[in-house]
Amino acid sequence: MVLEEYKDFLIAGARGYGSHTENETRYHSFKMALEILSKIPKPEVLELGTCHSFVSGGLPGCDSPDPIYWKPNDPSVWDWGAGAFTLVFGQNNLNLTTVDISREAINVNRVMTESLGINCQSCLADSVHFLGNIYKRYDLIYLDTGYLNQDSIERQLKEATLIVERQLLNPGGMILLDDVKSFSTDLPVGNKLGRSDLSLPYLLTHGFELIFEGFQYLLKIA
Ligand SMILES: C[S@@+](CC[C@H](N)C(=O)[O-])C[C@H]1O[C@@H](n2cnc3c(N)ncnc32)[C@H](O)[C@@H]1O
Repeated sequence: MVLEEYKDFLIAGARGYGSHTENETRYHSFKMALEILSKIPKPEVLELGTCHSFVSGGLPGCDSPDPIYWKPNDPSVWDWGAGAFTLVFGQNNLNLTTVDISREAINVNRVMTESLGINCQSCLADSVHFLGNIYKRYDLIYLDTGYLNQDSIERQLKEATLIVERQLLNPGGMILLDDVKSFSTDLPVGNKLGRSDLSLPYLLTHGFELIFEGFQYLLKIA
């Protein structure tokens, strides 16, 4: 499994974005998901919201589309604040599709994945439109579109509803939610579950069980 070499970056990556402890970081949720996927021959994985910056927030070149900022041999500067899901999961033995509404994000993602030898299918689309039209089932769907605000909360509920109603997961399939134990002044007052304030209660009453609770939540078909 390709993960341990990125452990320290993943643990440090989301610090400051919420009140989670070290055992609740993306390293631990990524590890659990990858361990479950490793038991499936060539699992199908879908990422909604692409890894789209060459470097982390605060560094020169953050969110710039200029490939001059991409340092494939220096993972310490990759965008661990956002999670770098494509770059980590893409280096494991699985079929990965990543979807984003931004052409620039897709182009940046392609530069990074190609240079790392990652075979990833990228798709320029709105996540809700994509889920409403795809005829395929996945073993893991990662919900990570948009940022911490009301629009993203509402979109994530639509994404979750389509996954359930259109049965887009294989038996035992998983959904990974990012930024759950997170904080932003752009979130409505009283928000407790980041972008997942509406989708998590929906999923828990529509056949899913929670198997990891931290900065990210990992759910599995019960
Ligand atoms: C938090 S970033 C994704 C981070 C990435 N998953 C990672 O691990 O580094 C959110 C992304 O969602 C995309 N996005 C926003 N609205 C979207 C939509 N309706 N459909 C698809 N992608 C969307 C943005 O363009 C942005 O690239």
